[in-house]
Amino acid sequence: MLESEVRHLRRAWAEARSEEDPFERFNRAQGVGSVRDPYAALAEMRAVAPVHRVDLRALPRGANPMTAPPDEIYTVLSYEGVFSVLRDGRRFSSAGYARTMGVVMGRTILAMDGEEHVRYRALISKAFTRRALARWEHELVRPAVASYVDRFAARGAADLVRELTFPFPVRVIAAMIGLPEADHDRFHRLAVELISVGIDWEAGLRASRELVELFAPVLAARRREPRDDLMSVLAHAELDGARLSDEDIFAFLRLLAPAGAETTYRSSSNLLFGLLSHPDQLDAVRADPRLIPQAIEEGLRWECPLLSILRTATVDTEVEGVAIPAGAAISVHLGAANRDPARWPDPDRFDVFRAQRPHIAFAVGPHVCLGMHLARMETRVVLETLFERCPGLRLDPTADDVHVSGLVFRAPLALPVVFEPQKAIGDAGCRLP
Ligand code: HEM
Repeated sequence: MLESEVRHLRRAWAEARSEEDPFERFNRAQGVGSVRDPYAALAEMRAVAPVHRVDLRALPRGANPMTAPPDEIYTVLSYEGVFSVLRDGRRFSSAGYARTMGVVMGRTILAMDGEEHVRYRALISKAFTRRALARWEHELVRPAVASYVDRFAARGAADLVRELTFPFPVRVIAAMIGLPEADHDRFHRLAVELISVGIDWEAGLRASRELVELFAPVLAARRREPRDDLMSVLAHAELDGARLSDEDIFAFLRLLAPAGAETTYRSSSNLLFGLLSHPDQLDAVRADPRLIPQAIEEGLRWECPLLSILRTATVDTEVEGVAIPAGAAISVHLGAANRDPARWPDPDRFDVFRAQRPHIAFAVGPHVCLGMHLARMETRVVLETLFERCPGLRLDPTADDVHVSGLVFRAPLALPVVFEPQKAIGDAGCRLP
């Protein structure tokens, strides 16, 4: 974290406390709307040194562990530095999340290290198989995306954030888990409250408890009689005779709301923004859908949805030649690493045709994102559906100043588009409202 980020965070959090709408509050608390381009400052800092020690004592501290930062933090900005920290789970622990997110989520794999992490991750991975992914695509993701697009296809205009990319991933997660449709709206509201915990501590804790009211009856039913959903896989997953407890499962499901819905909404919005603001590239990808996978990777590199993640040094160590003491908090800056000029020429340019080199938006190493194939598939389905159903799709020429913003999470607040109006085809067969 940089000094400028600290100042922005203080302002954003102060503003956020006065907001009423939970989603608006969440966006404000993440700094969305306040920081348009963190990259120039990051590039300047990285040019001076790949790793910086930042004093955080100016940040407000309270009883809320989510808002109680450490006194100092080491920020790693280069691709090499970020890669080396994330690859080494021994020197760089994830346990710090237990004191922050763990308070509302419970014990999740995100905050585990070593053997324990390997064991739990292996159990949970059983839910994310290639077969499950193919089934989710056809039974959940395509119908969900189609049903949202169907609501605006005849209008010839839409805000793609409010009407598609924000609502659909959370619906998909709810259906994947196996929650009844009647509970999807409540799940969505609680998921937003849970991840707004940094600004409303009480609401976050309440959402954490209320989510269990949604999960518990479904888990009990699936323990008795498994179905073809994620809850059933988690209820019956077994490794060396060990099973997940109810609390293990609730914690994992609480993690899925932000991990699965929040990030996917941002990544698909950011890619759409990249394409819509570069119409020649939009035309090229629309004309040749084989370009979609590389467009998705470039979108993730260029506008990484989650800019930085946290680690703690377990021993006195060094990163890129900078000494880091045992116990130090480390901000691992995925966003800065993804624009490191040592790896990508002209890194600030969105270019779906650039030579492909793996980016680090999904992290790397033991905690590499478990849902990355799902996220890619969801974004592909969004593009395919929009290309098919919204011919001539382009940014609304009358829209004012559409842009991506955010300091920790990044996304556009709106994506107003126009296209040739189509007849609604109805959502027969869609299992989602
Ligand atoms: C574009 C969308 C996504 C991005 C950019 C993203 C990014 C990340 C990152 C950076 C991490 C590592 C966090 C850390 O170690 O501190 C992570 C972990 C994780 N992600 Fe994702 N994610 C995305 C979508 C998803 C989806 C759709 C799911 C599941 C439905 C998911 C589930 C997880 C889980 C369970 C972990 C924890 C893995 C572990 O600790 O071993 N993510 N993700």
